[in-house]
Amino acid sequence: SSPPSSASPPAEPQAVLTPLTEASIFLTLVIEPGGEDGVRGVLGDVSGLRRSVGFRLPEGELTCVVGIGSEAWDRLFDGPRPQGLHPFRELHGAHHAPSTPGDLLVHLRAHRLDMCFELAHLLRNRLRPHARVVDEVHGFRFFDERDLLGFVDGTENPEGNAARRAVLIGEEDPDFAGGSYVVTQKYLHDMDGWDALSTEEQENAIGRTKLQDLEMPDDRKPPNSHIALNVIEDENGDEKEILRFNMPFGHVGTDEFGTYFVGYTRDPAVLEQMLTNMFVGTAEGHHDRILDFSTAITGNLYFVPTADFLDDPPGR
Ligand code: HEM
Repeated sequence: SSPPSSASPPAEPQAVLTPLTEASIFLTLVIEPGGEDGVRGVLGDVSGLRRSVGFRLPEGELTCVVGIGSEAWDRLFDGPRPQGLHPFRELHGAHHAPSTPGDLLVHLRAHRLDMCFELAHLLRNRLRPHARVVDEVHGFRFFDERDLLGFVDGTENPEGNAARRAVLIGEEDPDFAGGSYVVTQKYLHDMDGWDALSTEEQENAIGRTKLQDLEMPDDRKPPNSHIALNVIEDENGDEKEILRFNMPFGHVGTDEFGTYFVGYTRDPAVLEQMLTNMFVGTAEGHHDRILDFSTAITGNLYFVPTADFLDDPPGR
């Protein structure tokens, strides 16, 4: 057997690759002018705060991922920049994907909302003088992992090595190996319009069956279905995948029914191609049918550094 290697182990990713949970909180923050030093200090405390809340209820499996926006990156850190980091690119096509303010994303996941809430509260108190929350979404698991359109959402996520390959940066950007990128978009659904469709029309919009969540055969799957537009391949015919953790959210009293889209990727270009297919459309002129019933009201791209980077962020 070979002797143990003296090389240090690869940098530890943040908890990107954890399964979908029952509860989630998404905080979008904007850093105040002059708040950079304070924010950097809090970033170094995130893992400790997560342990303080999470260890009290290990089976709750509380995780916290922090993402950093493009402009915020330059305000916070010296040294090299992640190669793929840039502001979210607004899209104008058949539908509009806006780009909205967001310097930091806090993506909390647990089996119980109380754990997410407690950590959100602690982080907010620590960040209070340095950054303000511009958007807060409390997501919940809906029956059978369905979104509020009524379809099972998350089925075709890659698993195991395929998931790691899809989301973790490797040798293409050695300074940031083990990091990732994340895109978020807050969508509101026109439930009256959607509910007026027959089940068959809804299945045609998604490209999967509603009850059993089966993919439609290629010869039946409409070219403007969500699945047809989001299954994309590289030049070798291998599927280019992302990892999604969408969560439903809403307020019945104000008729707000939403999906908070969260997609992790190793290469923002993959996700951007999916967004272009959906919003602008393909060369054949097909855009995503679910967008006729879903409006994106936010759009952000963040870099997700490794846990090691976050524990000891380089100064400026
Ligand atoms: C698949 C819903 C936005 C990328 C799916 C599925 C549903 C769904 C129901 C099928 C089951 C599954 O495999 O998860 C939604 C809703 C959205 C949304 C309600 C927002 C209103 C997006 C966006 C992207 C995206 C913005 C990418 C930019 C994908 C991908 C798949 C998928 C890659 C899997 C395709 C496959 O391999 O079969 N989505 N989605 N989705 N979605 Fe979305």
